[in-house]
Amino acid sequence: MTKAVDWSTQSIIDRRDTYYAASQRAFVPYQKPLILKKGMMQYCWDEKGNKLIDLLGMNLCISVGHAHPKVVEAVTEQVQQLTHCTTMFHHPVPAHLAEELAATMPKGHEWVVHFTNSGAEAVDLSIMMARASTGNHDILALRNSYHGATYGAQAVTGVQGFRHNVSQLSNVSFVAEPNQYRGIFGEGTDPYLEEIDRSIAYTTSGELAAMFIESVQGYGGIIQMPPGYLKGAAEKVRAAGGLLIMDEVQSGFGKTGDAMWCFDHHDIVPDVMVIAKGLGNGIPIGAVVVKKEIAESMAGKLLFHTYGANPVACAAARAVLQVIEEDDLINNAKTVGAKLHEGLKQLKDRYDIIGDVRGRGFMQAIELVKDRDTKEPAPDHTAHVFEHTREHGLILSKSGTFKNVLRMVPPLCLQMEDVEPVIDALDRSFSDLEKENLV
Ligand SMILES: Cc1ncc(COP(=O)(O)O)c(C=O)c1O
Repeated sequence: MTKAVDWSTQSIIDRRDTYYAASQRAFVPYQKPLILKKGMMQYCWDEKGNKLIDLLGMNLCISVGHAHPKVVEAVTEQVQQLTHCTTMFHHPVPAHLAEELAATMPKGHEWVVHFTNSGAEAVDLSIMMARASTGNHDILALRNSYHGATYGAQAVTGVQGFRHNVSQLSNVSFVAEPNQYRGIFGEGTDPYLEEIDRSIAYTTSGELAAMFIESVQGYGGIIQMPPGYLKGAAEKVRAAGGLLIMDEVQSGFGKTGDAMWCFDHHDIVPDVMVIAKGLGNGIPIGAVVVKKEIAESMAGKLLFHTYGANPVACAAARAVLQVIEEDDLINNAKTVGAKLHEGLKQLKDRYDIIGDVRGRGFMQAIELVKDRDTKEPAPDHTAHVFEHTREHGLILSKSGTFKNVLRMVPPLCLQMEDVEPVIDALDRSFSDLEKENLV
C-alpha cells in the first residue's frame, strides 16, 4: 500500500507553512491557495473537482498536455525497465534525445547537448561555458529578464523580485530591454541596439563572454524581441568576442507557433541555447545545446550532474518531440493562438483598462493600465481580475515588472473550441471590475 495522502485544504496549508522554507512558500499567486489534483491535456481539476483551463501549462512545463498518453507510455516503460542510469554509464535513450535535439538546430554547425535537471542549472552551465571558452568574463543580460533562481542564473536575472540581497556573481551588466510598449527608448530597434554599444563601452572591459537573451521575455510580461534586434545584438556581442546565448526555456518547443525555436524566425544562429520546462512535459529536465567547438574547450575538466541524462526524463522528452511533430502542434499554436489573440484584441476594444495586447502563438499577454496615454500600470486591478479568472475557470499568471500583465502560455494542445470559453471567462472577469465599481 502506498502512503496515505491528506487532501484536506487546511492540512495542506498547515504542512506547507510549517515545513517549507520561507522562500519556497512565498510564491502563492492567489489569495486562497489553489490545490490541484488532476490534469488531462489542457485541463486541470482542483481537489474539489472544479475544472480549469490551464493557460499557464504549470509554468510552461506542460508542453504537449497534462498526462499526454504518449508521454505517459514512454515514461512508464522506462521507469519499469531502468529508473536511472547515472551519466558515467551508457544508455541509448539520452543518446537518441541528444541526436534528436541536435537535429532541430540550424544546419551548417555541429551541435552537442549537455543535459541538466533544470533551466537554471543549464543557465549556470552556459555562463561557465561562455567564460571558459572565450577566456572573457563580462556578460550582458537584459533588464526585465528571468533566467532562473540559482546563484549563477540569478546573477543574469534582471527582475528585482528574484534578486536576493546577497553579493551576486560579478561582471554582469544589464541592458535596457527593447520593450515596444513601455521601453525607455519607445518603439524601434536601433535605439536599443545602440544601448548595447553604450553598455559595452561604459560597463564592461570591452571584451565579452556572452549576452543572454530570452527569445520572448516570459516572466517579464511577454516582451517580444523586435525585428532585427537579435541579429544586431549577435553582431555586436560577437564583435566584442562574446557568445550569443538564447534562452528558449519558455519560448521553445513551438510555443510561438513559428518554428521549434523562437529564434528561428529572427534569422540568427545562436552559439548556445538553453532549454528546460516543456522538454519533459512535467518531468524535470534541462539542457544546454551548444556548438561543438565551444563545449570541446571544456573537455579537460569533469562536469558531472548525477541526474543529468536521466533515462526517464529523456524518454519523456523524446515523446514530447514526437508528439509535437505527429500532432502538428506548432501549427496548432499558430492558428489557435491567432484566434486567441483576436479575442483578446476585442476585449481591448471594450475595456479601457487594457493598455496592450501582445504575443504570438501561445505566448499572449494583456497589460493593464490606469490610463492609456500615461500607461500608468494598474497592478491592483490586475490582481482583482486575476482572482476572478480563477473563479471563471482559468489558470493564468500575473507577470511583468509592475505585476500588471496577465500572461497566457497554454499547452500546445489548446483547441479552437477552448478559445470562446477563455475569452468569455476573461470578459466576465473584466466586467466584474465594472460591477464592483473599481473602474
Ligand atoms: C526563461 C527562463 N529561463 C530559465 C528558467 C529557469 O528554469 P528552472 O525554473 O527550471 O530552473 C526559467 C524558469 O522559469 C525561465 O522562465
